[in-house]
Amino acid sequence: MAAKRKTSKRKKLKIAVLISGRGSNLQALIDAQKNKGYPAEIVLVLSNVAGAPGLARAKKAGLPTAVISHKDFAGREPFDAAMTAAIEAAGADLVCLAGFMRLLTDAFIARWRDKLVNIHPSLLPAFKGLHVHERVIETGARFSGCTVHFVRPEMDTGPIIAQAVVPVRADDDAEAVAARVLEQEHKIYPLAVKLIAEGRVRVVNEIAVIDGATAPTGALINPGKV
Ligand code: GRF
Repeated sequence: MAAKRKTSKRKKLKIAVLISGRGSNLQALIDAQKNKGYPAEIVLVLSNVAGAPGLARAKKAGLPTAVISHKDFAGREPFDAAMTAAIEAAGADLVCLAGFMRLLTDAFIARWRDKLVNIHPSLLPAFKGLHVHERVIETGARFSGCTVHFVRPEMDTGPIIAQAVVPVRADDDAEAVAARVLEQEHKIYPLAVKLIAEGRVRVVNEIAVIDGATAPTGALINPGKV
């Protein structure tokens, strides 16, 4: 008799990705789920901008898309309620903000508490908000990076799930730092989603605890060789 096939098929975590623009982080998630063993699957790509280039990436990958324009609503509450309805209808259990450029209401954030993640192009809690890379250069910081975190009402706050660090070089401009950081964003977003999908991320006293995670050893020093 043929050996019984291992039935370790855990159900994949269903995710909705919210975008407003380019969608390169969406692309990283699309690429990650091409791997059969990846434990999450995108069930909806939702944009508030009809012409967002990220929508074309989603369509190319055969993913369901929706456009809900904030301009069609009288305020943030009904707009966010419409987004929640679409996300619920798609059956998503996790919402990933990936360059979604609208502020969210407290009600939306509460509805998706610990099921709503964001990627930000700095080492939070430093450099919240916009124009991060310009400000990094202006301050002379020797390192920058990116953060995936659960979303809380205060902008760019919430339990940190994953971070990556990159050096800032003396001759860098904001574009150079942005490109270096973005490369890492495309690694840590799929990683963070994978950890959540595997059920390995718990929020304890507003800290994200990751079961079985190890931290790298050693340190980075910048300037390096002098
Ligand atoms: C990324 O830098 C992300 O960190 C920030 O918005 C940008 C979105 O880029 N939240 P993309 O649309 O994923 O290419």
